[in-house]
Amino acid sequence: MPSQSGALLGPVVLTQPRIWSRATGRAVAVGTVIVALWAPTSVAQTGELEQGRRLYESLCGSCHGPLGNGGRGANLAQPQLRRATDDQALSNIIRRGIRGTEMPGSPLTPSQLASVAAYVKTLGRVAPEDIPGDRGRGEAVYAGLDCVRCHTMGSRGGIVGPPLDDIGARRSAAHLREALLAPEASVPRGFLQLRVVTRDGRVFNGIRVNEDGFSIQFRDLSGRVHSFWKDELELFEHQWRRSPMPSYDGRLNAAQTDDLVAYLVSLVGAP
Ligand code: HEC
Ligand code: HEC
Repeated sequence: MPSQSGALLGPVVLTQPRIWSRATGRAVAVGTVIVALWAPTSVAQTGELEQGRRLYESLCGSCHGPLGNGGRGANLAQPQLRRATDDQALSNIIRRGIRGTEMPGSPLTPSQLASVAAYVKTLGRVAPEDIPGDRGRGEAVYAGLDCVRCHTMGSRGGIVGPPLDDIGARRSAAHLREALLAPEASVPRGFLQLRVVTRDGRVFNGIRVNEDGFSIQFRDLSGRVHSFWKDELELFEHQWRRSPMPSYDGRLNAAQTDDLVAYLVSLVGAP
């Protein structure tokens, strides 16, 4: 840390000597973050980052969190991103989104695109998120619970919920914690729960696979797919904000929850 903060503090010493001369250990740390985010090498660059920050806050912050490390979106506050591996990939992802995921494209002008990308890069210059908990113990917690009934990991497990092999790259620690303790607070796209009663009295709960004006297909909790014409049904109900995933609040103590979150965060898929 000392050599790194020394290097980062270079510009602060030049532009804001008072911060430096009064610096305590703590103030240095604060200074480091300010510099990491705002290293004002030129007025033009500062203006670009300011524009990038505003665009980020209005377009991206709701999913990626104001600091890039919280929410439904991937954690952007890390030095190395999994998909946005270089500048070109980063711009493409921001412009086009990531197909098949909740990451949307944004129709931005070239200058807006450049400024958001520049701002996203500054988010990665913070120290990596410090996640309490132990991934090794978390793996044991995972194995001891019934997660595998509904989730695939490696080639094993059920398909009622999404696969978890790269969940740590797709979601932030905060979202994963919420998914365990309050699954209904943030149901991922594509997991709409249905309750279906047929005219001959059969009752099903499941996750919608497909629906059009006349028919509906869904997967029940054992993973079996059913298909019905809508006029065969007595009742069918879209249960937005409901989830078949049970809450583990109460089944896990605080330390086990931390360990399990640390384990999930470490799952970033095949390199
Ligand atoms: C509706 C929620 C949502 C919004 C809005 C959103 N994102 Fe995302 N973003 C995601 C999700 C979810 C992922 C992870 C996709 C995956 O890999 O499954 C993601 C992934 C990314 C990645 C790739 C991260 C990596 O690991 O390489 C980048 C970069 C990114 N988003 C930047 C942005 C920027 C910049 C904006 C605003 C212009 C934005 N996102 C808006 C949800 C969102
Ligand atoms: C009865 C089936 C079931 C069980 C058991 C279950 N889940 Fe889930 N899980 C789901 C479903 C369905 C979803 C998607 C809807 C939602 O988020 O509630 C989900 C969502 C998730 C998500 C969020 C995924 C995302 O992309 O946002 C995580 C993380 C998760 N589960 C982890 C676990 C872990 C860890 C366990 C064991 C402690 C577990 N689940 C047990 C069915 C289950």
